[in-house]
Amino acid sequence: MKRIGMLTSGGDCQALNAVMYAFAKAYCNLEDDVVFYGFIDGYYGLMHNKYRKMKLKDFDNIDELGGTILGSSRQPFKMMEVIEDGFDKVKAMVDTYKKNELDALIVLGGNGSLKSANLLASKGCNVIGMPKTIDNDTWGTDVTFGFQSSVNIAATAVDQVRTTAASHHRIFVVELMGHKVGWITLYGGIAGKADMILLPEIPYDPDVVLKTVKKAMKNGKDTYIIACAEGALTKKEAKMKKKARAAAREASPYKSAAEEITAMLKENTDKYVGLTVVGHTQRGGRPCTFDKEISYLIGAKGAMLCKEKDFGKMVSLTNQHITAVPLEEIAGKLKFIEPEGDTVTCARALGVSFGDK
Ligand code: F6P
Repeated sequence: MKRIGMLTSGGDCQALNAVMYAFAKAYCNLEDDVVFYGFIDGYYGLMHNKYRKMKLKDFDNIDELGGTILGSSRQPFKMMEVIEDGFDKVKAMVDTYKKNELDALIVLGGNGSLKSANLLASKGCNVIGMPKTIDNDTWGTDVTFGFQSSVNIAATAVDQVRTTAASHHRIFVVELMGHKVGWITLYGGIAGKADMILLPEIPYDPDVVLKTVKKAMKNGKDTYIIACAEGALTKKEAKMKKKARAAAREASPYKSAAEEITAMLKENTDKYVGLTVVGHTQRGGRPCTFDKEISYLIGAKGAMLCKEKDFGKMVSLTNQHITAVPLEEIAGKLKFIEPEGDTVTCARALGVSFGDK
């Protein structure tokens, strides 16, 4: 009998269930006798040996469901090797792996979770990673599952705000998810036809933002939409150390860039200026068709790697290929937007401002 552990770690996203379904289906086509150990709430379940024993039929029809049937939690990588109240988390996880005589552990996770997966691989566990996150910032894959579903929601939000703003000649700032990277805002902003897109990777100048909006108004535009990432930064903030930046934000009456820009535009234009925070709707609900497609393929590839005992890898979608990359090559790296890359350049050609020049 094969014993396969599975867990979903970090912020959830659409298609987690679809990947687990596909993995289970494909693996049971390759092996006759399999039992799955579905660890509860990600690495927490692995640390505390809390799991659900599952057979193939338990994965029936879960692929259409949002969220994760196993639950998830954030277990920051930087705390993994810290002993807290005498509890050695890494040892506990390895012990759970050994105690249950697992043949492999399948980790559906983003950057931090994959770093922890790599750590477990270095301790002798047979690990396979699956590239999860709405943020699309996982190194070593062109796309992560969850991203496209999230972009669809973000783009719909921007588009819907745009039409009501147009009717009432208003300005709106739409805050979209992404603290360190702006992929959702970039693609959601382009598809939703935002006039301006503000990203962590392209620091903005508040004066440029104001001048650009005012110029558009002067030229006859009477509505304006700004798609703003949670982690958008001013040029000044970009030069600051992370701690100083966090302290400055804490001291500010505005808790986000989007709030600050909304206030600035309210004060300096004669328009109604609204703020829409799209928030966790971007992570919720069922996966879109593209995410289902890639999730079935990612799950199947993971099962093949597992059957071939090709461990220590993350399934990757690169240049239209479904392939795998060593966890140690991708662990700890983030995939950022290139400020001079094709997508940004084409968006500028469409007239989108990035608030920087
Ligand atoms: O999982 C990624 C993400 O959705 C980010 O885009 C967002 O900034 C963050 O998680 C929100 O985290 P939480 O759900 O813990 O508030």
